[in-house]
Amino acid sequence: KGDKVSILELEDFSEETVLKISEYVHQNFHRCSGYMLHETEEEALDTLNSLAQYRDVFIAPELSNGDYIRDAIELISEQEIEGTINALSSFNNRYYRAQTGVDSQAFLKNLWTNLAAHRSDVSVEYFNHSFPQPSIILTIEGTTNPEEVVILGGHADSIAGYFNRQGARAPGVDDNASGIATITETLRVLMKKEFRPAKTIKLMAYAGEEVGLLGSKDIANDFKKKGIKVVGVMQLDMTGFKTGKWDLSLISDYTSKEMNTFLATLVDTYVNVQWGYSKCGYACSDHASWHKNSFPAGFPFEAHSDEHNKAIHTKNDTLETLGGRANHPMHFVKLALSYLVEMSK
Ligand code: BES
Ligand code: ZN
Repeated sequence: KGDKVSILELEDFSEETVLKISEYVHQNFHRCSGYMLHETEEEALDTLNSLAQYRDVFIAPELSNGDYIRDAIELISEQEIEGTINALSSFNNRYYRAQTGVDSQAFLKNLWTNLAAHRSDVSVEYFNHSFPQPSIILTIEGTTNPEEVVILGGHADSIAGYFNRQGARAPGVDDNASGIATITETLRVLMKKEFRPAKTIKLMAYAGEEVGLLGSKDIANDFKKKGIKVVGVMQLDMTGFKTGKWDLSLISDYTSKEMNTFLATLVDTYVNVQWGYSKCGYACSDHASWHKNSFPAGFPFEAHSDEHNKAIHTKNDTLETLGGRANHPMHFVKLALSYLVEMSK
């Protein structure tokens, strides 16, 4: 046991056992069954310890690209965001073991490749895992400091229900076509602006988040092992649902305090919405995979976490639930643009 985190050893590692634990956590702790999957006790203990010992090393840049960012913001299109959300949710589901979850990644890889087709400094690759669905990494090679890497990511998979997940309808509009569409629109605008960063930018669409942060865990562990100099990670997971008085919250657990202070400055300078801090209470998304490897991560979220969209992980996570529009994610495109431009100079 750690601080609000427990390690369970499963002797019988069947889907049925995992589902029982999911339901137990769901009913008793009112969480959507938050857990991370570790293959060995050593790895699990390592994670628990590194979460406790974490010291972040984020250095916030001075803001200096106001005119450029405000011009870029003018190019953001709600229609484009809605188009990407509709395309992603038209796959029956994007489950990490389903063929439709493989196909949806092929679609997304193609979409990103086409947006950057005219750029020889941009490449798009799969990052393969031990399960069928690959993650996707788009790289914009830095011009003068390519060894320093700025990351913007979100999970591309979706999930619904507890049974027959491979066949179940899981549109995953808010969770997390909204985040992927936000990243895609950010890319579209940067390409339109012919943006050339000094540092390297990597955009990521993670596989298998809904079943234990699997895709991001593989990637963050790999980057750590290779000693890649990651100067910042921003996670986008659920950007579409507006409730309450805040249009955005900065998730303050499993993230870097300094990064959050920087993101708050960006929100006040370039986004101009009501915001505050809130907590997930557990390692609820891919930022935690980076955080546990001591990379400075931030996670701007659609609302106060207590007021999140209750239709996620069901067949009702549709555009209708978001009021039939894709306007809320535009705030997050503004933030993502300003984060990438200010961080990568
Ligand atoms: N988007 C959710 C996380 C989330 C839900 C954040 C509600 C804030 C409010 C994410 O896709 C998810 O479902 N995470 C899992 C945990 C994961 C480790 C399996 C969850 O919350 O159960
Ligand atoms: Zn989810």
